[in-house]
Order: sequence, then C-alpha cells, then structure tokens
Amino acid sequence: MARILITSAIPYINGIKHLGNLVGSQLPADLHARYMRARGAEVLFLCATDEHGTPAELAAAKAGKPVDQYCAEMWAVQAELAEGFRLSFDHFGRSSSPQNHRLTQHFAGRLAEAGLIREVSEKQMYSNFDGRFLPDRYIEGTCPNCGYDKARGDQCENCTKQLDPTDLINPRSAISGSTDLEVRETKHLYLRQSAMRDELSAWIDAKTDWPVLTTSIAKKWLNDGDGLQDRGITRDLDWGIPVKKGDQPWPGMEGKVFYVWFDAPIEYIACAAEWVDAGKGADWERWWRTDKGAGDVRYVQFMGKDNVPFHTLSFPATILGANFDGTEPWKLVDYIKSFNYLNYDGGQFSTSQGRGVFMDQALSILPADYWRWWLLSHAPETSDSEFTWEAFQQDVNKDLADVLGNFVSRITKFCRSKFGEAVPAGGAYGPQETALIADLAARLARYQAHMDAIEIRKAAAELRAIWVAGNEYLQAAGPWTVYKEDPDRAAAMTRFALNLIPFYAGLSAPFIPDAAATMAGAMGVDVVWPESAADAMHMLAPGHAFTVPEVMFAKIDDDTRAGWAAQFAGIRG
Ligand code: MF3
Ligand code: ZN
Repeated sequence: MARILITSAIPYINGIKHLGNLVGSQLPADLHARYMRARGAEVLFLCATDEHGTPAELAAAKAGKPVDQYCAEMWAVQAELAEGFRLSFDHFGRSSSPQNHRLTQHFAGRLAEAGLIREVSEKQMYSNFDGRFLPDRYIEGTCPNCGYDKARGDQCENCTKQLDPTDLINPRSAISGSTDLEVRETKHLYLRQSAMRDELSAWIDAKTDWPVLTTSIAKKWLNDGDGLQDRGITRDLDWGIPVKKGDQPWPGMEGKVFYVWFDAPIEYIACAAEWVDAGKGADWERWWRTDKGAGDVRYVQFMGKDNVPFHTLSFPATILGANFDGTEPWKLVDYIKSFNYLNYDGGQFSTSQGRGVFMDQALSILPADYWRWWLLSHAPETSDSEFTWEAFQQDVNKDLADVLGNFVSRITKFCRSKFGEAVPAGGAYGPQETALIADLAARLARYQAHMDAIEIRKAAAELRAIWVAGNEYLQAAGPWTVYKEDPDRAAAMTRFALNLIPFYAGLSAPFIPDAAATMAGAMGVDVVWPESAADAMHMLAPGHAFTVPEVMFAKIDDDTRAGWAAQFAGIRG
C-alpha cells in the first residue's frame, strides 16, 4: 500500500486567512489527501499554525492580549474554519508546541555539532524602557527622506524608501513610545547554508519532475548573486523557542529565541509527534525517519510561491545538515507543489489591508463546497488567477447547479414519479449506454492521471466533463419520452442514470465532499472510488431503494451577487 505524507504550509497565527491563502496551500493539499485516501493509500496529512515571530507579537499587542493567549485563541478559530472548509487534516498542530520546542532545539544542537552554525556579532537597537532589543519594524521615527513622522525602521510607508533604524530622526520604540534607545552589540547564530550549496544543488537538479515554478525559484536562489547566503536563525524576542543546544544551554544566547522561519518547517515533523501524543497515531518516526520505516513514504508539500526558497533550500539544509554523521536520516520532500497568487477583483487579496474575502466571511454566505469547487477549479497553477463575483456566480451556477445538481434532481424525481423510489428493473442497456461507458472509462483514466500528477485545473475540467456527459446522455436518451412507448427501455435508462449518481459521488468527493455525501446518502450507499466505469453502472441493483435529495446547489441570483460584491468591496475593519 502506498504511503503518502502530505503537509500544507502552516498559516501564520496573526488573523483569519483569506481565500487566496486557502487556495495556495491548504485546499489543494486537502484535495490530494482525500484523493490518495480514496485510492487506498495510507495518508498522513498535517498542518498547524505558525505562531512565532514579530507579526504574532504585534497582532497580540493590537488585540490587547498576552501573546500565548492570543495564539491559543486564534489557533482554535483557525481550527474551526479548517473544519468548516472540510480540510481533512489528520492533525492540526501548533508551532509553539512542546514537541516543536524539543525538536527545534535538537536540530540546532545537531547543526552545531556538524559545524554548520557560526556566531556573528551585530549592532542592534535596544530599548532601555522596554528592556529588550527592537526588531527594525518595532522602531518608529521621522523619515529622513520625506519627513513622515511614523516611518518604520525598515521602511517609510509614506515614500516607500528602504530604511535602516539608525537613519530615523527622533527614533522611538513602537511598543512603548520610549525614546530611551541605544545601539548595543548582540550575538546571533547563522546557519551556514553556503557550505551545503553543492549538496542542495545536486538534490534539486535530480528533481526533474517538479513543477517549473518550484525549480525555477529554487535555482534562482541557489545561483543568483553570491549564491546561497548564510542565514540568521536567532532573534532578540521574548516569544519563541529559546535558543538551546539540544537540552543544554547555549552560552551567550540567553534570552534569545530561534527565528520563526527556522522553527516553522520543523513543525511539520513535530506535528507528527503531536499527532501521536494526541492519541491519533502510534509512531511518527515511521513517517519521518528513513531508517525507521519512512523509506517507502512519498512526501508531498503544498505552498504559495513565496514559501518555495524556505522549503527547497533552508529546511532541507536543516535536516540534511543534521545527518552529517549518517545517524539521523530525515525524510526529504519528494514533490513540491507550489502556487501563484489568486487576486481579488482587480487587485490583491491583503491580510494587512483586509482586502478580499476571508475564510469566516466565505462560510457565512455559502457552504464550503461552492468555494472548494470554484477555488480548486481556478487554482493559480501556471499563472496568477483572479476571483471576481461575476465569474464565481457564473461558474458555480453552471457547473454545480445546472449540470451536477440538475442531473441528480431530474433523474431521481423522474424515477420517483414513474417507477417509485427504488431502482427499476426491466429492459437492458443498449448501444447508447455502452458508448457512454466507453467514454466514461476513458475520462476516468484521464481524471486519475491528472489527480495523480496534482494537475488540479485539468482534473477539475475532466470531472466537469464527466458530469456533463451524464447530463447529455439524459437529454439525448430522454427516458420521459421513451416511457410512453417502451417503459422497459425507459426503466433501463433510468437505472443507468441512477447508477451515475454514486459514480459521481465517488469521483467528486475530493473536490466537494459534502455534496458527494449527500449524493451517496440519497442512493443509500457509501462514497466509494469507482475503479471501473463499467462495473459502476451495475452497482445499484434493481429494487435498491433511494430517496430524492434536497436541492444540492441553489443558484446565485444577480441581486445576491451584486450584494456580495458591494459588501466585500471595502476593507475589513
Ligand atoms: N507561515 C508561512 C506563511 O504563511 C508559511 C510557513 S511554512 C513552514 O507564509 F514551512 F514554515 F512551515
Ligand atoms: Zn519617507
């Protein structure tokens, strides 16, 4: 049995994610997880919240809450929204978990042993009043370029000039407003990624089957300018994972934490340990250590394109480096599916500006399946794509209501009125049905090939074509007309069309799991992947009882669409 480890990039804790975030990692990862499970694979699908770093601290401060409390609450909010979107994580963890503390410190210790860490002295602003070093963006002052008095230490928002905190006139702490600042010397740890350049380069060169988007970004960072830069992996912050060498203190590093991008990918591993500690699994090393059973695992990651450098270079450098002596062979990723951006109505989705539709808002106006279908069938795979309310209305009405929903409702209602609520006996399949079976068999093979290759738009197009084929059959066969002359033949047609419903349920479930459950439930069967189109058309025997399902997809009318467009035109407060 195939074993597939799937991770989605772990979303930042600082707020509710928008639909662009969702379609760029969690949703396609869920599609793959559901598909692989349906095909009989043993799947471990993990995600978590990314809780450390400056943005988390700032968001907590803005919410007026202690950062640990803020994170705990926001984790619960994100977990509930994940359920609302039917994201089928085997575990939704937290990068602040004790498991991640332990593993992150472990990896740092191993990297130090490997000689892959160097200590660097730097000058940084220290706030005497706050009793802490201030990251660049925590320092405010007057812009030397334009005179704007709320310029940040990294950039002036007014004139966009890139700044150094020492450029600011009258610098003050953004936390307390205190001007009692001084430049102090501080020590940081750097990961010597440059020492691993050749190893990483050879590894990426061997990945000839990866999407171009993924490898082009990886190669750009490997080869541009001076090549792979060493990277600071510590910060002077309170909130984070304390810098330690394994379980030993790290002299000179007291009071410092690891950089969020160092500990976040390690959470992929820690999340598996959390999954075990939560009583959901027995052995996490079986998924993560090739010397402990993970040799036959295929590991697939999903992420937006901005995340690619960390996943193709930094994280592999961490886990490869930790195996310097061959005693810790960690599982490296086998396939990285990355995404471009989804734009919102002529601009960008933006968390900081509150622009677009956010996960909670989406679910408050329509059930998950509408969003899942539209977002996945428009996944920004080869280029950026755009959400507009017109396109959303049009596609959802056509694909889900007119094609799929209408098919199910029409044939179940027809059968109920002429033959009752059980699959009719009588007649036999003829050339029309044989032809459709052949067509469906070919389409099923293509659909599976696209799903195997994680070609999401192509898969969605094939699934849509499979729905359309059923509708066209019904239209051409016309059992309602045939019934008058030849009820037996009409019964065979009806039986055939009814059998398409469980077939559709199985194939559609990775995209629209709730509708799939409704379809299968109405037909009194489980959602099952149909391995053969020919067999599937004989699944429901004559006499098998069914019920007519409620309307599966309501159409979006123009007024409703216009109302939503207006409601989501502004920015979220
Ligand atoms: N939080 C990051 C983002 O949303 C993703 C982190 S992915 C991980 O862009 F690899 F660090 F886990
Ligand atoms: Zn300025």
